[in-house]
Amino acid sequence: MTPELPPVMDEEQLAAVLDLPKVELHLHHEGAAPPEFIRRLGQEKSINLTGVFNPDGSYAFHDFAHFLSVYEAATQVLKTPEDYARLTTAVLEESAANGVIYCETFLSPDFCGGGDVGAWREYLHAIRDAADAAERAHGIVLRGIVTCIRHFGPYRAKAPALCAAETAGDWIVGFGMGGDETMGKQKDFAWPFDLAREAGLQLTTHAGEWRGPAEVRSAIEDLRVTRVGHGVRAIEDLALVDLIAERGIVLEVCPVSNVTLKVYPNMAAHPIEELRKRGVTVTVSTDDPPFFHTNMRREYHNLAKTFGWSAEQFSELARTSARAAFCNDETKSALLKRLETP
Ligand code: HPA
Ligand code: ZN
Repeated sequence: MTPELPPVMDEEQLAAVLDLPKVELHLHHEGAAPPEFIRRLGQEKSINLTGVFNPDGSYAFHDFAHFLSVYEAATQVLKTPEDYARLTTAVLEESAANGVIYCETFLSPDFCGGGDVGAWREYLHAIRDAADAAERAHGIVLRGIVTCIRHFGPYRAKAPALCAAETAGDWIVGFGMGGDETMGKQKDFAWPFDLAREAGLQLTTHAGEWRGPAEVRSAIEDLRVTRVGHGVRAIEDLALVDLIAERGIVLEVCPVSNVTLKVYPNMAAHPIEELRKRGVTVTVSTDDPPFFHTNMRREYHNLAKTFGWSAEQFSELARTSARAAFCNDETKSALLKRLETP
């Protein structure tokens, strides 16, 4: 049987799709730093960034482990609340230019004050001030998800969980875990996730990017998350896919990130369309956009070209993402209203 070809969208229709208002739920704050921004800060502070950049100025890495070490090396230049304020301004200008109207960003107290609650409050204050200014200037709304870092181990996850619990509210709306999924077990992090849940935070964790479906199942059952970062390898266990669909667990899918890091060889091999067709709630994000040479417009472009998603499907994607946001009901209603009126 000949495979069904996606309907062709003409260039004008594609341009209109790329301009649609977008909602992004999975973004690492430092990972969104333009390389020029990190280079400039490194020069200002005389910090040696050997190995971080390619000769053309882009970030240099050859696999996921190397990506994580380059990420941490680049992050060394961000040493003060003021640096994070500048970073926030740069990130939100770029996101707004790509049509993002609401974004949730991962913030790591390990990088912002070393896990100390007092220092974390100062970083958070600076980030929020910059986000408020960006909202006034560009209309983009930002909320924060505090993350612990898996390869730092469960013991070091306690401090970020405490920072999250102490600052939980209308702006810090979630708790999650990033870092190297190939190390340790989701279950080892039950304590920080329990603490965050009791503080009223909603939960997400990276799972099913580097390890298979068992990792996604453990994220849902042991950490009781309602969203999963990536989660795409759930496709290898169709009973799990059904469970994810039935429970309304949301996947924060980052297609270009997955292709760049070779989880899948190309967009056509990416399971996002199959997951969607099987009833899974999928959302679309960039992960670490300048590292992966992507942005939300590029994600939309690839999805339209590869899977033939229509303008109506992209509008529905944004509404689905807004409903899956961790923000309070007031912010969510305002966001859904903005998505109703083109
Ligand atoms: N994946 C996992 N951990 C991370 C990432 C990522 O893309 N960026 C920063 N920490
Ligand atoms: Zn991520």
